[in-house]
Amino acid sequence: MNDLSIPRGERAVRPDFVPQEDNISPEVARLEKTALWTRTWQMACREEEIPQVGNFVTYEVIGQSIIVVRTEGGTIKAFHNVCQHRGQQLTAGCGTVNKFHCRFHGWQWSLDGELLRIQDREDYDGCEQMQDSDLGLSEVRVGLWGGFVYINMDPDCEPFEQYMAPVMRALGPMKFEDMRFAWYKTMVIKANWKTALESFMESYHVASIHPQYLPMVDERNKSFAEGLHGKHVYILERPMGAPSFRTGKPVPEDLREGIANVLAVFKEWVGDAEGKGQVTVRSADAAQRVLTELPAGLSPMDVTMAAIGFMMEAAAKEGVQWPILSMEQAMDAGVDWNIFPNMVLVFAFDGCLVFRARPNGDDHESCIFDMWSILRMAPHEVPPLEREFYADWKDHVDKIPKLLVQDLRNMESIQRGLHSLGLKGLRTNPVQEVQISHFHEVLHQYLYAN
Ligand SMILES: [Fe+2]
Repeated sequence: MNDLSIPRGERAVRPDFVPQEDNISPEVARLEKTALWTRTWQMACREEEIPQVGNFVTYEVIGQSIIVVRTEGGTIKAFHNVCQHRGQQLTAGCGTVNKFHCRFHGWQWSLDGELLRIQDREDYDGCEQMQDSDLGLSEVRVGLWGGFVYINMDPDCEPFEQYMAPVMRALGPMKFEDMRFAWYKTMVIKANWKTALESFMESYHVASIHPQYLPMVDERNKSFAEGLHGKHVYILERPMGAPSFRTGKPVPEDLREGIANVLAVFKEWVGDAEGKGQVTVRSADAAQRVLTELPAGLSPMDVTMAAIGFMMEAAAKEGVQWPILSMEQAMDAGVDWNIFPNMVLVFAFDGCLVFRARPNGDDHESCIFDMWSILRMAPHEVPPLEREFYADWKDHVDKIPKLLVQDLRNMESIQRGLHSLGLKGLRTNPVQEVQISHFHEVLHQYLYAN
């Protein structure tokens, strides 16, 4: 019988075992608050959200609020969102300021966080312990990669470059910094932040939850730890466009239809109403040219390369350059990364789905979940950024890509199932779900190392 009263952390993670307490225990959530969120790097926003001097985003997690701002010099800085006088929060949401102004008593700071104004400053004359140098906004560390802005509240944290090294190596060639928001959706999900995020850390569920892929995607994959992070890579024993090995169907002689369908399925299932999601509509449509412009009898590799050529040509017409990846770089990049702790990237060709999960206040069985699409778009193709917020995702199913709804429909019943007294632990697949077991291993290092 599973004993939920055993001290946390004593049920060790293995590649084939994760204790379900991690995702249901209030003690774990409390520990995460003190030992994880305040000590780890986490993605606060994208650079494109704050392109101009004075643009800011307020990032909230576990009751901490962080201002991320574009300063006068063009660099990005982050500060704890709190007036150094009486603790009033200085900002909320996103916007533009030329200085930070506390609406409580009018104290002010520059975009660089330097104290500019104390109302009735002379009242403090003679207070020897009051130094301007001590009254700047409390700075938070910032790291930039791939167009993402990361923050870390721990002044003694691991250097960003070290923390991100495997990501920079394997995903640097993808040039995520050249992508721009197609859409930005944030929603409340009634599941622990890890339960929600883990739904996007493996492709083991594709056959059951997303069977629409099986006729043209062989989803057999391997997963790997990468520093604190993890990834999985499709093995491609069967070429793109061929049915999954588990369908029992042979690889067809002619792959033109299969490859055209891979892109069509991305557009239909992972796209918004226009089809924008994991790839651009431009690419999904351009790939259809293989049906009408290629002769029969080409090798799978030739059809694939022709499809990629059509997509790149369509991009070039819009002034968009794809990065060129070698086969080795493409295999190293894989298809899916989780960047510890709370971000997942799922990408293909010229687009990427970005997932980010955070606890919803003190409710550890509910989370704030971001789903973003970023695409390789020319400046004139980039739509104005609209941040949608769904207090209950179930009320907005028509606005969420169908594939993501398939995942969402699962999560809340997983969270309920994790409470079952009949569950002895999670038997993570040691080949295809290493991202999840490794994620918990790293989490335990944060929670129980000291
Ligand atoms: Fe899924």
